[in-house]
Amino acid sequence: MNNIRNITLIAVVGNHFELGYQNRLLCHLPKDLHHFKSLTLNHTVVMGRKTWDSLPIKPLPQRRNIVLSRRQQLTLSGAEVFNSINEILAATQNEPELFIIGGASIYQLFLPLANKLHLTRVLSDFRADVYFPEIDFNAWQLVHEAKVPKEKENPYNFTFQTYEAKATID
Ligand SMILES: NC(=O)c1ccc[n+]([C@@H]2O[C@H](COP(=O)([O-])OP(=O)(O)OC[C@H]3O[C@@H](n4cnc5c(N)ncnc54)[C@H](OP(=O)(O)O)[C@@H]3O)[C@@H](O)[C@H]2O)c1
Repeated sequence: MNNIRNITLIAVVGNHFELGYQNRLLCHLPKDLHHFKSLTLNHTVVMGRKTWDSLPIKPLPQRRNIVLSRRQQLTLSGAEVFNSINEILAATQNEPELFIIGGASIYQLFLPLANKLHLTRVLSDFRADVYFPEIDFNAWQLVHEAKVPKEKENPYNFTFQTYEAKATID
């Protein structure tokens, strides 16, 4: 459907690919928030309506904010609302990279189209009610990894990982 631009999923997950609980993130990691900001700033971010609702500051500043919702008449200050993935792809066809920032249902929708994954793997178990979709890691190549030890402000060990989709032979 789209072979040139990057469709990039970015998520922070626990040991079991936990994503969130009661419409909140698993934990507060300022270093991960900084990482998220440095990657997404001046780009387009795509999120589900529940993730939009969960944002403490909205829209995410200095980014084009796109929200997916089934509600036809929904308007959100500072965001563009679309009702289908195809509408989003059409409206962003000139964007070099789309950052898919969650939540679970939106990762599930975009994973088959994605060619890049930024995963922050938090080395802990969390209570969760939403999970990242199952990934076939045979189809992805780890291209970057950086371990970050816990300290006072960031109380979990975690690892930044970047994966790129392996080329497929038709
Ligand atoms: N760990 C992370 O990196 C991370 C990142 C983001 C979010 N999260 C967490 O994930 C959780 C939220 O995830 P979620 O899966 O419950 O909600 P979500 O994906 O953020 O939003 C779900 C909403 O998106 C809309 N939607 C979903 N599929 C659609 C489709 N095919 N067509 C049109 N609209 C569609 C619907 O909105 P309407 O109801 O308005 O129709 C649906 O209720 C929270 O706990 C949040 O903190 C974690």
